[in-house]
Amino acid sequence: MSSGTREVVITHSPEETIRVGYELAQRLRQPSLVLLEGELGSGKTTLTKGIVAGLGAAREEDVTSPSFTLVHEYGRERKVYHADLYRVEGARDFGTLGLDDLLEQQATVIVEWGEKFLGEDVAAQVRIHMELLEGEDRRITIEGLDR
Ligand SMILES: Nc1ncnc2c1ncn2[C@@H]1O[C@H](COP(=O)(O)OP(=O)(O)OP(=O)(O)O)[C@@H](O)[C@H]1O
Ligand SMILES: [Mg+2]
Repeated sequence: MSSGTREVVITHSPEETIRVGYELAQRLRQPSLVLLEGELGSGKTTLTKGIVAGLGAAREEDVTSPSFTLVHEYGRERKVYHADLYRVEGARDFGTLGLDDLLEQQATVIVEWGEKFLGEDVAAQVRIHMELLEGEDRRITIEGLDR
């Protein structure tokens, strides 16, 4: 699935997490699939703000949770799709979610609750696990990013 790399960073504020997303965006291949895992409030949407802004697709304040709409679309030439599988039940693959078409467009696809995604390996795949620590601390483990 990935090239086997693993990086761990601890952030101490939402702003720091956004910054991590911004820097991550500079290292993403296109197309890429970014799977975000971790419990409620661990910071998946916050990190996505940084990734989308870092890709130049939207301002961070315009990136909001797609929980009710399933997928948000950002950008013009370089599209970024932001999906949230929280309310999706059962095994889902890319075909049934309609996300395979998005990757074919050379887009970046970011999926919250990525642990629910049971699709086959597609494109460059980055898996990010977010954990709540004390207070505003968050541990972010990033796997599969090119060095
Ligand atoms: N270090 C931090 N990194 C990210 N968010 C933080 C941090 N410290 C505090 N927060 C706060 O935690 C919350 C994270 O919410 P966010 O919507 O990003 O989480 P989420 O993982 O997307 O949740 P959900 O599962 O509901 O989609 C925000 O209110 C944010 O301000
Ligand atoms: Mg969220």
